[in-house]
Amino acid sequence: MDEAEKHYPFLKACHRQPTPYTPIWLMRQAGRYLKEYRALRKKYSFLEMCKNPELAAQVTLQPIEKFKLDAAIIFSDILIPLEPMGVEFEFAKGEGPVFRHPLREKKDVERLRVFDPEEEISFLMKAIRIVRKELEGRAPLIGFCGAPFTLASYVIEGGHSKNYVLTKSLMYEDPSTWDVLMERISEVLIRYLNAQIRSGVQALQVFDSWVGCLSPVDYEEYVFPYSRKVMHDISKSVPLIHFATSNATLLELMKRAGGDVIGVDWRVDIGEAWARLGHDVAIQGNLDPVILLGPVDLIEKNVKRILDKTNDQPGHIFNLGHGILPNTPPDHVAALVDMVHEYSSRKL
Ligand code: CP3
Repeated sequence: MDEAEKHYPFLKACHRQPTPYTPIWLMRQAGRYLKEYRALRKKYSFLEMCKNPELAAQVTLQPIEKFKLDAAIIFSDILIPLEPMGVEFEFAKGEGPVFRHPLREKKDVERLRVFDPEEEISFLMKAIRIVRKELEGRAPLIGFCGAPFTLASYVIEGGHSKNYVLTKSLMYEDPSTWDVLMERISEVLIRYLNAQIRSGVQALQVFDSWVGCLSPVDYEEYVFPYSRKVMHDISKSVPLIHFATSNATLLELMKRAGGDVIGVDWRVDIGEAWARLGHDVAIQGNLDPVILLGPVDLIEKNVKRILDKTNDQPGHIFNLGHGILPNTPPDHVAALVDMVHEYSSRKL
């Protein structure tokens, strides 16, 4: 950390150092629940906004201007590196991502390209540089990627899936194709994360959003080696948050795979999760995003419950258990940020 960075509570918490209050940011904090975002979306598609550095920077800063959040996260999507690998997709209205040619055979997987992200995803690197300049030390900037399993599941299923039947079948029945796919994605992610660090991000989050569909044994055999490789091979100059949903049974393995901070969703008691993980790692979470729709006293009760379980040692970053929902009232976000800061405030 350089001199200025030493003062950010978010970065201190990543390193398990004491902070004057518990820092908070929200997954998907830039998005459709904000009228400022919806106004821009009337003019541009989601991917147009991701690929235009000025627009991506503007959207990244929207929640920072509005709320007292302790970190910004660069506006992009986990699927962005798939296109230069040779996998085409689009965001169909109301459907999420759709891939025209899902990959299920070795010959297709072997064609996937490893590329130079500074060249081929230069728009993201430029957006990072703009945001760093415009933040002017107000908050640190988080970069991110999807984890190998979650990205592989999109490539194989062709979109979001309920039971991951195609992904798991390929994994079980054709392990050598699975290996080529996971290797290729991991290679790209190492370059992609290092390029984001060089462009100026001050922390990273790896989203393994859908890996909770696996048993611990399968995680260990089919996912762990690749996630571990990504997190161990990247530059150690910034802290890394390793997040998954439905990961209550995978916590110990996720910690072994890597990360200075483990992100947990709301299905697990955060105090118990931290005790299981051990206090030599920081923790992030875990308010149910649906609670944020409810009345302010319900939000308050749940904030206190989470802070009571985490407040007696350094290294907790407050967040939702998953992305903020589009129908969240912005007033509730403002109230949540104040509540977390006030209730956790401590004398150092
Ligand atoms: O956190 C942030 O504010 C940064 C931006 C961000 C987005 N996507 C913007 C987005 C981040 C970190 C992501 C990660 C992402 N993208 C994940 C992992 C996190 C998670 O939710 O588990 C996943 C699985 C995706 C893939 C993805 N992108 C899906 C399934 C969808 C469609 C569903 C939906 O929420 O609309 C997206 C689109 C997307 N990514 C939007 C935003 C703001 C909505 C686009 C729009 O219509 O305006």
